Amino acid sequence: MARAATATINLDAIRHNYRLAKSVAPEQQAIAIIKADGYGHGAIKLAEALENEADAFGVACIEEAMELRAEGIQLPILLLEGFFAANELEYISNNNLWCAVHSLFQIDQIAAADIANPISVWLKMDSGMHRLGVLPEEYKEAYDKLVALPQVKEVVLMTHFSSADEPELDTTSNQIKLFDETTAGIDASVSLANSAGTLAHTNARRSWQRPGIMLYGATPFATSQELADQLKPAMTLSSEVIAIRDLQPGDAVGYSCTWICDKPTRVGTVAMGYADGYPRHANNGTPVLVNGKPSQIIGRVSMDMLAVDLTDIPEAEVGAYVELWGENLLASDVAKHCDTIPYTLFTGITRRVHKKYIES
Ligand SMILES: Cc1ncc(COP(=O)(O)O)c(C=O)c1O
Repeated sequence: MARAATATINLDAIRHNYRLAKSVAPEQQAIAIIKADGYGHGAIKLAEALENEADAFGVACIEEAMELRAEGIQLPILLLEGFFAANELEYISNNNLWCAVHSLFQIDQIAAADIANPISVWLKMDSGMHRLGVLPEEYKEAYDKLVALPQVKEVVLMTHFSSADEPELDTTSNQIKLFDETTAGIDASVSLANSAGTLAHTNARRSWQRPGIMLYGATPFATSQELADQLKPAMTLSSEVIAIRDLQPGDAVGYSCTWICDKPTRVGTVAMGYADGYPRHANNGTPVLVNGKPSQIIGRVSMDMLAVDLTDIPEAEVGAYVELWGENLLASDVAKHCDTIPYTLFTGITRRVHKKYIES
């Protein structure tokens, strides 16, 4: 029998979550963000599952878009990081890719490009995140230059939020205010919102939402939120107990003996480790489910295995089903014990983990 470490991806959950993103602004469009191999879920499978209902796809770079085109995906694809070298513009123009422009030098590169089909440019403004984007004071001039170019078909106005997942702060409304003031008088489509913006900031819902993490069923927020609570987890990471031992008080578990039993303890060894993408820094007490019952990790996560406490699950034997996160255990709850966020859990899953796709 094969090693049981499996990521089961529920494509109906992905579609449900995409529809939720659309439902908050049904008259507007939503780009399904499937960069980084669909946040670790498998971009091609997701694109095929969403192709009949998504308005467009978003990826980080041309290599990710080329993989989708090679598999026959036809929808427009937005390159969120734009182009890295001017020689990408020919492929962009010939393959209906949309392209973020984040710096003034890129406008000169587009102006110099010899391309067959004018391209759609998403002109990004740095409205406060200070990562990518044209400065507000240069934005209008950049827009005017781009619309005048024969190489450009249309210009969509965009920015990205630094803190939309913290709706209690006024950071996002300040970014929106700056964006709106800067773009006043420009008649063009607008794209502001990632998942958190889509879910929590009504004023951020403009022509194009850009939902990412919510498609995968994970909330971007630290606490309960009405819409985010309706998301369905798409990835269930599971494995099996492969060995069991009964330990006595004083016995240690795992590398560096970081867990010492303080009572008689039944310990299960699970085929799941950091080489599968399960975080090594998951702390003692990180939740797991064994045969659907709550348990926790004890000791250090090794490369291929981890240990769980089976003392209160006496019926669990070798072969017991272990859910590391997923349908019944939120990745965001696990992430809190690993000092991280669901994004890194999902994108960290390695190719050793068998991926299984289901429809419901
Ligand atoms: C420009 C841009 N838009 C949208 C997204 C999607 O963000 P989220 O996964 O938080 O919805 C990202 C992700 O980092 C991004 O960089």
